[in-house]
Amino acid sequence: MKYQKWENLARKYNRLWVQKYSLGPTRREVLKIILPKLQADALLNLFEAGCGTGQLIQEIAEQYPQINYLGIDAAQNMIELAKESAKGENIRFQTCPIESFASTEKYDIILCTHAFPYFPNKEETLCKFADLCNPGATIIIVNSSTNSFKDLMINFFLKATTSKARYLSVKEMKVLFQNAGLNLQEVKVIREKFYMPTIALFHLEK
Ligand SMILES: C[S@@+](CC[C@H](N)C(=O)[O-])C[C@H]1O[C@@H](n2cnc3c(N)ncnc32)[C@H](O)[C@@H]1O
Repeated sequence: MKYQKWENLARKYNRLWVQKYSLGPTRREVLKIILPKLQADALLNLFEAGCGTGQLIQEIAEQYPQINYLGIDAAQNMIELAKESAKGENIRFQTCPIESFASTEKYDIILCTHAFPYFPNKEETLCKFADLCNPGATIIIVNSSTNSFKDLMINFFLKATTSKARYLSVKEMKVLFQNAGLNLQEVKVIREKFYMPTIALFHLEK
């Protein structure tokens, strides 16, 4: 099955070693960017694509319980764990691949951490993100990226543990953002250990 690797990983996901060197540091960087925005205007809609077990939403909701959260993920086991961890009427999780997701609701913050490489149609996904935005919305996308021979080698092994993936270079991502009409504010490289690939954080605005 298409998402079987993620279904199988769900129960051990929050204990994987990459939590320490990649996923945890990513959440910290995302929080650094969005928390100041939340303080200024707390009644917001936040959408996360490929939310996994819902760790990021849970961490934000601990500080900002009044925001409306929606996290989606293609793997049902991930979503079940997300639902167990973060509770509240305004915190919703749905099993849904991004390619089938449709909504009339608009969002002020869109997050996508370590999930974009697995989405089948990247151009379409970014246009979908753009359509889901309220004016002035912030989008943060973070993922492993291939910018050197070393990245290529590490990402080759990473790919073996996941569903089908394309870890695009920063240059390739920039072209996609431009085509989707998204304004790139900042690119930040998060790399905790020499044996990790480039982890690129893209801070965008609509
Ligand atoms: C590496 S995990 C990242 C989870 C979480 N965002 C994080 O940073 O820890 C990748 C997630 O993307 C999800 N995923 C893969 N393909 C997807 C798709 N087409 N639509 C939605 N989610 C997808 C997987 O089920 C998995 O939970």
